[in-house]
Amino acid sequence: MAKVVMEKLNKHFGEVKAVRDFDLEIPDKEFVVLVGPSGCGKTTTLRMVAGLEDITSGNIYIDDKIVNQLPPKDRDIAMVFQNYALYPHMTVYQNMAFGLTLRKFPKAEIKQRVKEAAEILNIGELLERKPKALSGGQRQRVAVGRAIVRKPKVFLFDEPLSNLDAKLRVQMRVELKKLHDRLQTTIIYVTHDQVEAMTMGDCIVVMKDGLKQQVGAPLELYFRPANKFVAGFIGSPAMNFMEGELLSEQGGLFLQTMGFKLKIPADKAAKLKSYPEKRVIFGIRPEDLPEAPASIPNETIEVMVEVLEPLGSEVYLDVKVGETSLIARAEPTTKAKPHFKLYLQPVLENVRFFSIRDERALL
Ligand SMILES: Nc1ncnc2c1ncn2[C@@H]1O[C@H](COP(=O)(O)OP(=O)(O)OP(=O)(O)O)[C@@H](O)[C@H]1O
Ligand SMILES: [Mg+2]
Repeated sequence: MAKVVMEKLNKHFGEVKAVRDFDLEIPDKEFVVLVGPSGCGKTTTLRMVAGLEDITSGNIYIDDKIVNQLPPKDRDIAMVFQNYALYPHMTVYQNMAFGLTLRKFPKAEIKQRVKEAAEILNIGELLERKPKALSGGQRQRVAVGRAIVRKPKVFLFDEPLSNLDAKLRVQMRVELKKLHDRLQTTIIYVTHDQVEAMTMGDCIVVMKDGLKQQVGAPLELYFRPANKFVAGFIGSPAMNFMEGELLSEQGGLFLQTMGFKLKIPADKAAKLKSYPEKRVIFGIRPEDLPEAPASIPNETIEVMVEVLEPLGSEVYLDVKVGETSLIARAEPTTKAKPHFKLYLQPVLENVRFFSIRDERALL
């Protein structure tokens, strides 16, 4: 059990500013996910918490104690890496026991802890096997088991599922969530996969270029992204973005772009009125672009269908409006066909607006 706090954390590698002014408070027992594109500083942040990387400036606290100078072995943290090499010549039991043996735990205690962890992870039958006789998912569980036996205050996971195939990944995702539920330990989990982040985290931290973009619960980030980057990063297929102009006319506020004009709902219009610039970026998620039976003035967009992506329960339509490509979600019963026209009726309550200048959300 532990609270972890990062305060104005910076890490520079020569000219590269890998992590910049990073503040984060992780309550005890929370499952927090750091997510962002490759190179945004996720691993570096995790390694600083583990004590494997020196801090350029800032502080890290574990349970209100500054640990900046504390060596990794004294931090009571266990880390599972992406390339979690197991010792090939050791059995599963020996692999899991290894860390405790090094720390000179009594034999009986080691046995007890390995047995417990093996039970939790459902690998009790495999303890005498060598790693080469295990499947990818089983090996992954042994790697997690090696961390569990330590009974650490905090678990750090760095993309632990990226070596697994898609189906196994989904399964391990659920298992790690159950594990957290059972162990009630603070977990910091790193991934570049937004689906993994959404499905696993109590709290998600989106990073880009070493900077924190937004912190929040999964659905909070989905429905109230703080900027265009978060809006585009969270959600799959991604939010559609276009530029347009706000027009104040008799009867209300309109969004004008590429040959169509949409009436902005009154409550949104009231909030946008104070925005001094005319041009904005607006974003619409694929599920907020349903098909309309016919053209409705100021409510629909005329598009040209290019490609259909049928997934079974839904169909994604790749469409074009002018030169801009959009993705819309349709029902499996859709009559849409490539090279035919279609009308889409954006759910205007759910349209997000962003500043062209700094891409911040406007509402
Ligand atoms: N030891 C190092 N020396 C120099 N630069 C480094 C070092 N480690 C990381 N970097 C740089 O710091 C930045 C952040 O790297 P980091 O490994 O934290 O990214 P990441 O978010 O984990 O990316 P990925 O998803 O690819 O694992 C990158 O630009 C990287 O090239
Ligand atoms: Mg990394």
